[in-house]
Amino acid sequence: MPDELFTQALNWLSAHADAHRAQAGDDAPLIDRKLRHTMRVLGHVRGIVRELPNRPDLARLAELAAVLHDAGRFPQLVRQKTYDDRTGYNHAAAGADIVAESGLLAPLPEAERALVLAVIRHHNAAVPPHGLAPDTLLVLEVVRDADKLDAIRNNLKYLNPEAPHGKALKLGVKWDPEGASDQALQLARERRLIPFPAIQWSNDFVLFLCCWIYDLHYHYSFNELQRSGNYEALLAKLPDNDAMAPIKAQLRDDLAFIAATSRPGIGRSAK
Ligand SMILES: [Fe+2]
Repeated sequence: MPDELFTQALNWLSAHADAHRAQAGDDAPLIDRKLRHTMRVLGHVRGIVRELPNRPDLARLAELAAVLHDAGRFPQLVRQKTYDDRTGYNHAAAGADIVAESGLLAPLPEAERALVLAVIRHHNAAVPPHGLAPDTLLVLEVVRDADKLDAIRNNLKYLNPEAPHGKALKLGVKWDPEGASDQALQLARERRLIPFPAIQWSNDFVLFLCCWIYDLHYHYSFNELQRSGNYEALLAKLPDNDAMAPIKAQLRDDLAFIAATSRPGIGRSAK
């Protein structure tokens, strides 16, 4: 990968954001919030790839993919007035198309270009598609881990009934301090991911985020969740009633166990 391509990607993203900021109207601050998210994701990617010193080629592609992964967010905000993918605009697929059409990645060999575009395209999938090449899957999991770490931070910051839900959070979530659906509680007990359609209550959404520990892959990610205090802060948003208290204890214990037993450089799933 040419040295100057990373800088060119940063400049391209900045110009791409500028082109949409004026059209975003009152939502313009959300464009800048997404740029700051991108830079924090890049920081986490750099933390993760330090665990992969034997693959500097993939580390640099992961950094490039991190910069570009949310390129579809700006046109999404302008067209849909929301960052919610359920309104019919898949920001990841759109972003891959936009980056491909921009010609930005032309200096890359074909295989590396395809890898970066696949990472952008699939970074938001509930589950990555089968059949990806091993290097593509490795870089995809790096970016997905990093994206999740910052999404947890952001939801902690903005997850409250006064936040602009339709813009930054999820549409249609009912706010209640105690409410939780039986399906979300059961999936959490079974250490499984909670699909979007199962999310009805705000506590379901917090559980959905908590269950991401079962879909993280890198030592850095588990330790960062603990070190930052963000996982404890997430758990603190859940009630301590009879249904939830044992699940919170299980989640807390699971993260502690995985953080203590995962090893740097091993892309693993907690499952
Ligand atoms: Fe992202």
